[in-house]
Amino acid sequence: MNKVLVSLLLSLGVSVAAQAADAGKIVGDAEAGKAKTAVCAACHGADGNSAAPNFPKLAGQGERYLLKQMHDIKGGKRTVLEMTGLLTNVSDQDMADIAAYFSSQQMSVGAADPKVVKRGEELFRGGKIEEGMPACTGCHSPNGAGLAAAGFPHLGGQHAQYVGKQLTDFREGNRTNDGDAMIMRAIAAKLSNKDIEAVSSYIQGLH
Ligand code: HEC
Ligand code: HEC
Repeated sequence: MNKVLVSLLLSLGVSVAAQAADAGKIVGDAEAGKAKTAVCAACHGADGNSAAPNFPKLAGQGERYLLKQMHDIKGGKRTVLEMTGLLTNVSDQDMADIAAYFSSQQMSVGAADPKVVKRGEELFRGGKIEEGMPACTGCHSPNGAGLAAAGFPHLGGQHAQYVGKQLTDFREGNRTNDGDAMIMRAIAAKLSNKDIEAVSSYIQGLH
């Protein structure tokens, strides 16, 4: 294994273990969560499959990842202007219920652009070995399902436009909630605009 991946995985293991210690305190209830998502549906879709490509799909996303993002957005660690104030009065229990509901749904799959799909697949499955960038599959799994228990997000089927914006935001330092190991910032730093376009398109069609 290359050195970068080893050190990324090691530092990740530490933060995952630390989080595991306080996990499991609040258990989400998907049924109760459904009733709490009316305000979210306008942008994310009733079942979590959003229509607009700049609004992320939440359906089938890992519960742990969803919950972390909601806490980060509510607490200001991740800026989502469209959601300003929306989570202010949403309790920890409500967020756990909402996360349970969306994760119990299934993410729909889109199509990849045939012009860039080959380059996208190379990046997703092979990374950029010569630059020490690991493959995406190592954490997001070969079929893009992620690793829910570790909080590695599901990517397969996600809107390319949203994915591309996240990778650009990580690269430019506009999204910084990927932990002290800065995993995604380190990876995105190795991606050109063309790479981002290709891998995002590939992800949109991945299932
Ligand atoms: C006005 C539109 C809008 C509404 C309403 C809205 N969101 Fe969002 N949400 C967004 C946008 C836009 C983003 C992504 C912003 C970005 O590009 O980083 C987002 C991101 C998220 C994410 C992170 C997803 C990921 O893959 O990282 C979660 C979780 C989320 N929203 C949950 C909710 C919940 C729960 C509600 C209802 C309480 C809600 N949102 C209401 C627009 C909205
Ligand atoms: C070492 C593990 C690891 C590798 C390798 C990795 N990721 Fe990630 N990725 C993560 C983690 C962990 C997060 C969640 C960060 C957070 O909690 O906000 C993430 C988040 C993301 C997100 C944001 C998802 C969302 O819904 O907002 C995208 C997009 C993404 N990764 C794409 C990629 C791509 C493309 C590659 C390969 C070029 C890749 N990742 C390689 C661990 C990894």
